[in-house]
Amino acid sequence: MYLGDSAELMKQLPTESVNLAVTSPPYALHFKKEYGNVNKAAYVDWFRPFAEQIHRVLAPDGSFVLNIGGSYNAGTPTRSLYHYRLLIMLCDELGFHLAQECFWYNPAKLPTPAEWVNVRRMRIKDSVEHCWWLSKSPFPKANNRNVLTEYSADMRRLIERGYRAKSRPSGHKITSKFQVDQGGSIPSNLIERGNNESNSEYIRRCAAAGQKVHPARFPAALPEFFVNLLTDPGDLVLDPFAGSNTTGAVAESLGRRWIGFEFESRYVENSKLRFPALD
Ligand SMILES: C[S@@+](CC[C@H](N)C(=O)[O-])C[C@H]1O[C@@H](n2cnc3c(N)ncnc32)[C@H](O)[C@@H]1O
Repeated sequence: MYLGDSAELMKQLPTESVNLAVTSPPYALHFKKEYGNVNKAAYVDWFRPFAEQIHRVLAPDGSFVLNIGGSYNAGTPTRSLYHYRLLIMLCDELGFHLAQECFWYNPAKLPTPAEWVNVRRMRIKDSVEHCWWLSKSPFPKANNRNVLTEYSADMRRLIERGYRAKSRPSGHKITSKFQVDQGGSIPSNLIERGNNESNSEYIRRCAAAGQKVHPARFPAALPEFFVNLLTDPGDLVLDPFAGSNTTGAVAESLGRRWIGFEFESRYVENSKLRFPALD
């Protein structure tokens, strides 16, 4: 974990040395949070130098997963397009490929902005964030067998009791191949996880140390999903906006090497609490 501006620090990393960059930068919000958000109009230009370095350091079959939240335009109940503009710049200008759009569904997200959702009741709760899965080539390393989920009870029954091959009304042919136990279901691109972990090891250790928790963490499930999907043990995972270093701790626990960059010293200091062995 290194302290400093990641646009500069990344310049010290060798070209094509990173297998996966997974990160959640400060989002463009029209009010400032304590860790400094960037103005929406300037966001794409602000992000470009980081993205250029990420593109350079990624291995040819590497991936860049960017978790980014949407935002309302100031003063109106309409949504900003800033994160779509960013995506288009990343692909059209820098040459990234959009491997897949994934979404983080956070059922615990608060209904905001209060004016439009709670007071005037003219908008609904916004509870997904984009995770753009970008890659340097159209065929990044990825293996969905590493992220299988539990079969549903119905699917289990089907595998056990068998299935009569037939065509669905949609025209899709369901063959007996569906009966084979593949070890679990292929997950969808909607990753569901509340961000309200109140009793995680990290939170307990912050409380015990009398330190504030980082105010904008993502749940460990997010980097965990992509580290498993997109890397092998021993691979190198980079988070250029590391915050409390959720990514590094996940990578460590999964036997990957990791590098985190964060420019607030108090967050770098606080991230040590994720590694009890450092006590
Ligand atoms: C949304 S938070 C990331 C939180 C992290 N995913 C976690 O789970 O703890 C974004 C972080 O980027 C950091 N940051 C902003 N600009 C930076 C820069 N130029 N270089 C390094 N870190 C930066 C902020 O201080 C903040 O901690």
